[in-house]
Amino acid sequence: MPATSSKTPDTRGLAGQTIGDTSVCSVNQTQLIYRGYEIADLAAHATFEEVAHLLLVGHKPTAKELEEFTTQINESREVCDGILDVIERIASEPTVHPMAILRTGISMVSHQDPECEDNSPEAEARKSIRLLAKIPTLIGACQASRDSRSRVAPDSSLSHAANLLWLITGEKPSEIAAKVMDISLILYAEHDFNASTFTGRVIASTNADMHSAVCGAIGALKGNLHGGANEAAMDMLQCIMDDTKDSEMSVDEWMTRAFEEKRKLMGFGHRVYKNGDHRAGILRGWGLRYCEENDPSKKCWFDLGDQVQAVMLRDKNIHPNVDFPCGMTYFAMGIPVPQYTPIFVASRITGWCAHIMEQHANNRIIRPLAQYVGPDLMNWTDS
Ligand SMILES: CC(C)(COP(=O)(O)OP(=O)(O)OC[C@H]1O[C@@H](n2cnc3c(N)ncnc32)[C@H](O)[C@@H]1OP(=O)(O)O)[C@@H](O)C(=O)NCCC(=O)NCCS
Repeated sequence: MPATSSKTPDTRGLAGQTIGDTSVCSVNQTQLIYRGYEIADLAAHATFEEVAHLLLVGHKPTAKELEEFTTQINESREVCDGILDVIERIASEPTVHPMAILRTGISMVSHQDPECEDNSPEAEARKSIRLLAKIPTLIGACQASRDSRSRVAPDSSLSHAANLLWLITGEKPSEIAAKVMDISLILYAEHDFNASTFTGRVIASTNADMHSAVCGAIGALKGNLHGGANEAAMDMLQCIMDDTKDSEMSVDEWMTRAFEEKRKLMGFGHRVYKNGDHRAGILRGWGLRYCEENDPSKKCWFDLGDQVQAVMLRDKNIHPNVDFPCGMTYFAMGIPVPQYTPIFVASRITGWCAHIMEQHANNRIIRPLAQYVGPDLMNWTDS
């Protein structure tokens, strides 16, 4: 008889469950593949626009297709002043998180999309490009308000990554800044049935429209166990830096205390990658390159990150995920921490829309069952 394990697998959170098919992406312990192309290959040789075409249209673009696709994005970046004024007003309240503002922004944009209620493949292909194009404009208006400066208009001569940085900072980015942002957007673009994509697919499966599914996906990405981890990872590093700077406490001691308090260390661990997230190494390399070329003083964050990573591996055997180097990289680039997760949206919108279109193309409502664990049957009139 084969040996059986007495330990029942913990399937809470659908761990280990395959719940559907996709041709958009494949994730396993060793590889992340977008429609047949491995992530390291894409990060080394493609641009974000090419990856967006691969995900949204379904294949690697020819030069002509890429030109048309890029033109469509560039021509769709404008968002009307009425919406941007509302974004700025909400952003002037400092307690409102930019992810909540972006969620509202997408909702407002939906009301002006002439094809909002049209779930045909043709309309959804057009809507996905409009969503991709407009998200940086919404993020830019939010940050301009936070910085008490006038918002700038999207620049059609810039790539998606460079335009995003321009709108967030109000300054034209250096070549290396645009390149590092482009790489991070490629790495963030898609990840099969992660929580936000799954949320988007559940909403789409009711025959709801693409904008509604994207609003739900933004809500799911906001949490710090998912996309919000890139902000939380940087907040944690700043906390460690503060607590250890006068040598009152070592990094080792800080981590031991966190373990004793059973705290989750942000930017570590992954549902699928148990031996490391290959995106993390790629982004760390580019983040360090940015520091070397632009501001070597910021390398201290990567040195601290390496110490934290070493203790985490030694004591817990848990590896960093992509959000860990992302925090340090965006921090070195001078991007305000609360915009890290909205930037994730500016990339993952491609994966979300690809999945929403895939769901609509072969739909059956997603409606699983629950195991009832409540009280036994009672009569309302008995007591
Ligand atoms: C990503 C994450 C949500 C995955 O959750 P999960 O699949 O349910 O986690 P696992 O089943 O792999 O966890 C196994 C063990 O490692 C621990 N663990 C996992 N990630 C940890 C972390 N970041 N810090 C401390 N302990 C962690 C768990 O608490 C669990 O311990 P236990 O067996 O004593 O209960 C989880 O690792 C996490 O919360 N990470 C921090 C947030 C983050 O970086 N999210 C971005 C993901 S890309």
